[in-house]
Amino acid sequence: MFRGFPRNSSSQPRVAIIGAGIIGLSLAFELAYRRGTRVTLFDTRPAGRGASWAAAGMIAPAFEAAAEEGVHPRLFDLCLESARLWPAFSEDIERLSGLSSGFEAAPALAVALDAGEAAHLAAISQVLSARGVAHRQLTGDDLAQMEPALSRDVLGGLELETDTRVDNRRTVRALLAALEASPRVTFVKGAASLTSRNGRVHLDGHDAIVAAAGWETPVIKVAERGQLYSLVNWETALDDIDCHAGQMLSVAAGEGAPERVVRAGHVYLVPRDGQVVIGATMEPDRVIDTPEAEVIEALRLEGVKLCPDLAGAPVTERWAGVRPGTPDHAPFIGETVTPGLYVAAGHYRNGILLAPVTAQIIADQILGQAVGELAATFTPRRAYSATA
Ligand code: GLY
Repeated sequence: MFRGFPRNSSSQPRVAIIGAGIIGLSLAFELAYRRGTRVTLFDTRPAGRGASWAAAGMIAPAFEAAAEEGVHPRLFDLCLESARLWPAFSEDIERLSGLSSGFEAAPALAVALDAGEAAHLAAISQVLSARGVAHRQLTGDDLAQMEPALSRDVLGGLELETDTRVDNRRTVRALLAALEASPRVTFVKGAASLTSRNGRVHLDGHDAIVAAAGWETPVIKVAERGQLYSLVNWETALDDIDCHAGQMLSVAAGEGAPERVVRAGHVYLVPRDGQVVIGATMEPDRVIDTPEAEVIEALRLEGVKLCPDLAGAPVTERWAGVRPGTPDHAPFIGETVTPGLYVAAGHYRNGILLAPVTAQIIADQILGQAVGELAATFTPRRAYSATA
């Protein structure tokens, strides 16, 4: 039974990662560059072009502070931990790729346009204060000075020091460039030929398999006696991974564009590469790849409500993506009940934020290093105790 390799082993495992989105790429980066491990990355589609490409790039732990009922109770801690890892992660990616990772440590603003949104921000502020997490209460006048692009209807808000941003498309490009330059990394454009013997999942030449294919993780194929089955037949916890479509757009960032990330309710504006991203819809149980004109227009108008001068800004791009979810809105990270089979999927709205910490946790487990108490609570095995 493969149970992780000891820290000082001269015989390093070879790891197969299925899914070359930001989670798979970040894990490959962690293993190849920081742990000296050989990795094969499999994807049937172009690397990094799924949810990692569709995302807005917010690194936003504070928004998980006042979680609704049913959300994993340690998600906020995991988000804070990963946000702390981002600066060094970004530096390493930039050093090893020679490209910008697009990371910017500029604090985000969360603002309220009505009493309901103000109450939500008050709840976030209360948790942040109790936890000693830096943030600042702002009046409407403060906000008008700090971010003149904002509507005068804004009642007040918070400056969130923990919440920053990254140009996720640049991150993906830089990760790919670094990984392509590494002799320890092999890319395979196609499916991994997984087979099953005696209840275990195998891939020739590999010691550990990590399923990291976002919302498509449950349907990764496994062959047994000439028949093709889905991975969920071996790891039934994967049945809990669901999908949440998101549609969004970007407009040209001219006069009247915000300089910071601004959030109000479910709408957010993110400055990125000379544009402002306006996101996003949240459409449970839906898979789409083409944005819908009327949905995009409604979203654009919500963005304009927040920053009125965006009204005349030309739309530069419209797109749609699919977030992978789980019942407690937190990812599955860790070894499954099938030895040697790991899962890193279900990151819901926080895939970009949680990429560095996910990579560290899975790398630690595969290499037989101690896994902390926080990390252990994200095991995919929790799905069984929830239904027990
Ligand atoms: N992270 C923002 C979203 O999923 O819409």
